[in-house]
Amino acid sequence: MKPEILVLAASPSADVMAQLEQAFHCHHLWRQPCEAQPAWLASVAPGIRGVLTTGSIGIGPALLAQLPKLEIVAVNGIGTDAVALEKTRQRGIFVTNTPGVLTEDVADLALTLLLSAARGLPALDRLVRSGAWEHGLPLAPTRALRGKVCGVFGFGRIGQAVAARATAFGMRALYYQPRAVDGVAAGRCASLLELAQASDYLVLCAPGGEATRHAVNAEVMAALGPRGTLVNVARGSLVDQGALVAALRDGVLGKAALDVFDHEPHVPAALRELDNVVLTPHVGSLTVETRHAMGQLVVDNLRAHFGGRPLLTPVA
Ligand code: 8YV
Repeated sequence: MKPEILVLAASPSADVMAQLEQAFHCHHLWRQPCEAQPAWLASVAPGIRGVLTTGSIGIGPALLAQLPKLEIVAVNGIGTDAVALEKTRQRGIFVTNTPGVLTEDVADLALTLLLSAARGLPALDRLVRSGAWEHGLPLAPTRALRGKVCGVFGFGRIGQAVAARATAFGMRALYYQPRAVDGVAAGRCASLLELAQASDYLVLCAPGGEATRHAVNAEVMAALGPRGTLVNVARGSLVDQGALVAALRDGVLGKAALDVFDHEPHVPAALRELDNVVLTPHVGSLTVETRHAMGQLVVDNLRAHFGGRPLLTPVA
């Protein structure tokens, strides 16, 4: 008998989905209409031994409590802030994630957002499409990246990959995170506030969770300043979103380029209406190659667990 798995969200890789079906008895929650999900879940819950979830969905205490036979939660993503880790630990449920394989694409998106904000790409695109260029609308120059400071909050794999890219664009990289990182060229600031003060661009790459909740507050935004740009490819929870809207609206902060938000996929109208923002729908890791590699790691972790072998990427 194949182990029963609850799949909360599909992988875009057909090959990964086929491997899952082959190795496990999959129950796909995402295929159920919202209103049918509670009853459907109650009917399959008793047999579930594994859950496949994403970084954003995670798994909360209520769903964990519904799954008495659960042995493993495999996160198709790096972030585990949406997983009730204290509960999984209490029950001895294993958790895995997908470190390493999404680093480059998330860092690429961070630079894509940074460059889009710096050069005002969305407005330029609209200007050409609307025909305004043909009608002789004057174009304002933007500021060059060279010589500017790219501050990185959170200096793990993704933060370091962002710093390497920023350096390639002629920027100077600085970082802040509580623990100093040895052997890196980027200098470390003593606090996030000091990093914001020193930066033209502040790129958020830190994990979500209570320790970083609203770390980027009104004071940090003011320190980044009217010529500064905030880039977030990490978690919406890192930023006080209300304070961000106010700072961007009042010119306290220059621009923001955001891939992640509080309460995704909802993005408040007050943020959507601003001209000095670039917005993308949480797509940092959404390339064919990376989503395949992430999905493969998920499948390999689940296979290892149910095959009695060591997990490839367990979350401590
Ligand atoms: C994914 C993420 O969007 O890795 C993470 O933590 O948030 C993203 O890479 C998500 O996990 C979907 O699979």
